[in-house]
Amino acid sequence: MAAAKLFFVGIFVCCELLHRGAAQAGFTSIDCGSTTEYTDELGIDWVSDGDYTSTGQNAVIDIQKAKLGADAVNDRRKLQTLRYFPGPASKHCYAIPFVANEKYLIRLTFLGGNLTSSAAGTVDFSISLGTAHWQDVQVTDPWTPIVREASYIAPQATSPICFQRGDVGDPFVNSIETRRLTSFSYQLIVTAFIYTNVFRLDCGLKSGSPSTRYPDDQWDRIWAADPESVDIPGITNANAQLANTIATAGNEPPVAVLQSAWNASTISFQLPLSALPESPIDSTFFYIVLYFVEIGGLKATDFRVVDVNVDGEAVSDSPVTLTSDSTFEAWSLLLETTKSADVTITPSSNSSVPVALLNGVEVYKIQTYNTSLTTSATAVKSIEAIKTKFNLDEWQGDPCLVWPYDWVKCTDPSTSESLAMDITALELSKFNLRGTIPTDIAGLLQLTELALDNNLLTGSIPNLSALTKLKYLRLQNNSLSGTIPDFLGSLPLSVLTLDNNLFEGELPQSLQEKIDSGRLTFSATNNPFLCFGGNQCLPPTSSSRNQTSDGRKNGRNSSSVGVIVGATVGGVVVLLLLLLLIYWIFIKKPAPQTGTGMGAVQGGRDEHPRNASAQNSFSWMEVTTMTSNFAKILGRGGYGNVYYGELPDGRKVAVKVNKGNTKHGKQQFLNEVSLLSRVHHRHLVSFIGFCNEGNHEILIYDFMSEGTLEDHLTETRDVNNGALDWMTRLDIVLNASKGIEYLHKSCNPPIIHRDIKTANILLDEHFVAKVSDFGISKPMPEENRTGGVTTDIKGTFGYLDPEYFKSYRLTEKNDVYSFGVVLLEVITGKPPTTINFPHSRASNLLDWVQRSIRDGNIEAIVDPKMGTNYKIESIWKVTELALSCLRPALSERPDMTRVLQELTEAMEHENHQTTVNVFPSPSEIPPSAFNQYQRVSEPPRVVRNSSRGDSSRRSSSQDSIATFSSYNITAR
Ligand SMILES: *[C@@H]1O[C@H](CO)[C@@H](O)[C@H](O)[C@H]1NC(C)=O
Ligand SMILES: *[C@@H]1O[C@H](CO)[C@@H](O)[C@H](O)[C@H]1NC(C)=O
Ligand SMILES: *[C@@H]1O[C@H](CO)[C@@H](O)[C@H](O)[C@H]1NC(C)=O
Repeated sequence: MAAAKLFFVGIFVCCELLHRGAAQAGFTSIDCGSTTEYTDELGIDWVSDGDYTSTGQNAVIDIQKAKLGADAVNDRRKLQTLRYFPGPASKHCYAIPFVANEKYLIRLTFLGGNLTSSAAGTVDFSISLGTAHWQDVQVTDPWTPIVREASYIAPQATSPICFQRGDVGDPFVNSIETRRLTSFSYQLIVTAFIYTNVFRLDCGLKSGSPSTRYPDDQWDRIWAADPESVDIPGITNANAQLANTIATAGNEPPVAVLQSAWNASTISFQLPLSALPESPIDSTFFYIVLYFVEIGGLKATDFRVVDVNVDGEAVSDSPVTLTSDSTFEAWSLLLETTKSADVTITPSSNSSVPVALLNGVEVYKIQTYNTSLTTSATAVKSIEAIKTKFNLDEWQGDPCLVWPYDWVKCTDPSTSESLAMDITALELSKFNLRGTIPTDIAGLLQLTELALDNNLLTGSIPNLSALTKLKYLRLQNNSLSGTIPDFLGSLPLSVLTLDNNLFEGELPQSLQEKIDSGRLTFSATNNPFLCFGGNQCLPPTSSSRNQTSDGRKNGRNSSSVGVIVGATVGGVVVLLLLLLLIYWIFIKKPAPQTGTGMGAVQGGRDEHPRNASAQNSFSWMEVTTMTSNFAKILGRGGYGNVYYGELPDGRKVAVKVNKGNTKHGKQQFLNEVSLLSRVHHRHLVSFIGFCNEGNHEILIYDFMSEGTLEDHLTETRDVNNGALDWMTRLDIVLNASKGIEYLHKSCNPPIIHRDIKTANILLDEHFVAKVSDFGISKPMPEENRTGGVTTDIKGTFGYLDPEYFKSYRLTEKNDVYSFGVVLLEVITGKPPTTINFPHSRASNLLDWVQRSIRDGNIEAIVDPKMGTNYKIESIWKVTELALSCLRPALSERPDMTRVLQELTEAMEHENHQTTVNVFPSPSEIPPSAFNQYQRVSEPPRVVRNSSRGDSSRRSSSQDSIATFSSYNITAR
């Protein structure tokens, strides 16, 4: 027995400690935006919100300016920090712990202060509680706190409280409090209803006094003092002994609240419905609780009977009867009203005192909600996996409830038979997504629309054959690769867009049939390796490729002369007249195979075998084989090394191995592949293929047997010994200018090469020039950032436009400048970095040329190695052109079209021939073939969805506390 007694006592001690100790039992007090835990003046323990949410940002406001009134000392700390949600997501959630099926009081406070005061107008947003759209908040005065409080039965152990962006401003919240009530509190609070508190008054507490609250109120209800506008006589009896009287009520007010009361012949208050806190559901139900207890105003023989009327009608047959020994009465009214309701309390005719009494009052507005709504568990699981994969952590809470994520669409529960919502659309366009398409998407079985377009996705299309309802599939503007899978043909697709990717191979037969029959809207432009609709595609490849027979055939054609260096040149179609010209120039050299060139020219690109086998994806194994395990280095650079290789068909190639580098290197690499695949010109190096396996990033170009222009200019040989003569030099720069002009003028958007220099002008076996190295080339619209050039400066020192350094704005005139340097180099044979000038104090090449010209001594600058076989007129002309390219003002420099014309004229001077037909248009490939060239340069954008799930919002007022005085409580 003794043991049992001790045990009992022990429990008491324990519970007593618990009550006074760290945590208030059943309280969760979250100070949003705070980073510390603390205990406030009331003894309530607050925690920061980091454990409950993972998005949003913290802010501190200037709490001194807030209109906090008498409760300031208690509320200051929780209000002065807040968390706000600038997005991009429209919905932000806290995961709040509850005990399932228990009654709770939930209180949120909002005080935007200087966070929102500068924002024009108001801030508005909506709040959900569990599966209910609970409240809409509209902040008009940033310095007056808004309090929203509700009581409800928590349906689950964890419920999200979410904030959904409205039309103006970012959602925010300063504190979230939950207080667990007892199961017998507020008997009218039942499952599936939310009871939003309208007001709660400590009647008779002098206006301006601090509210009565915790620890007086064990559930931390806040009982406000009389509103200022109220002029009802009050009575107070601080000595009234009420504890025993009220002990079992369940939701009894604290003794302190009951010790004061209104005492008047008529007590009346109004519920002005338009001024109530906004609930999205137009509820007409109110829950009113009236508390009566005598506190010494009656003599022993007196008794008080009061009638409660709403709009003049008695709400009950039996009036409230109070005697001096004081029964405690808590009257609950359930009131349905659609107009502003007058609640009136008057003494009954049989009351011995003609005075009414009211100690406390609470008014709640009631809304119902559907507790059974859920989102399909498999869909939620898939969405979670997709979020993880794509770092979409910003989107929290249920993907469909209460508001769907910005990028999903869900079934409409009001029209669907099932209460389990499901996801019908995934709209992740322009989300800057990287990596592969997650297979988890296949778990979204109800999907009818999947949009992943305009991202940075790579890899192939995964098996989505489970999506048997999919009608729209948008994948355009990514770097997706691989073949188009067969299953797409069996889906009920009506739209399929694949443009601007790296897909390869043939379309599945079933898909082609749907296209042919007009049942499928299909587009797939700019997939250089994809064959469909009889278009000319570059052959597929990669592992499955067995196209070598094709390549072998072609190889014979293009490699018959083959030789080369550096990086490139490809297929090389040489125009007949140009070849004749070269033949004429190199009269003493072996005649080139003009026959091949003629055929190629006449046949055009499509018939030329070069392009038919030009682009391929190669495996790492194939690359090691073709380079004999990287045996022979052709060049080294900051990007990595270039190796010599031979394809199985004998074709010679230059293999450029990128150094595994930055985190977004892979994407740059793929963009370069895609750019190279789309840019074709006789005077640009031919791109043969790439290897993108694991970390390997390898580009394969045609091998250019004569190496770089730089090599030839710096060789010490003289013209009789193999150095380039003037005519050859002129021809080389003319052809190079055609390649650059094509990049500037024929590509859409225009491409700026950024690294024009003699080392990037490569020569094939016929000394036909081709511009190489697009690794840092930029489509024009994309480039105006300041970073990114530093690594290039070393390689292009001497060629870089000083204007570019000044402005960091890249234009095509920067390439013109570099080309001007190339022209000077070609004339003088001196590299731009030289400082060794005979008989001159010139400090650099440009300076030296300018001085010499000023002195009228043009011959002094001509490279002695190229002999005397030149016309001084054409030297003059090219020198003037070079100097104009180097003018400081961008606008004074010619564009590449002009440069091309000038060089053509210089060539005329040189050979005294008319030029008709000699130098045809620089682009040999019909411009139409490139019209569709485009890249995704628009930054990813998140579309904010500000629409709401309902249209029933009304313009709401400020919070109940702030505007309480308008409730018109009167005494008569
Ligand atoms: C508001 O003002 C206070 C005091 O001037 C300042 O510390 C705080 O950073 C401001 N907060 C915001 C969100 O501007
Ligand atoms: C209550 O009101 C009545 C009538 O207005 C008044 O006579 C009485 O003194 C009041 N009681 C107290 C305790 O003030
Ligand atoms: C090409 O295909 C044949 C049979 O179809 C196979 O034996 C051979 O290994 C393949 N070659 C390559 C390079 O894949």
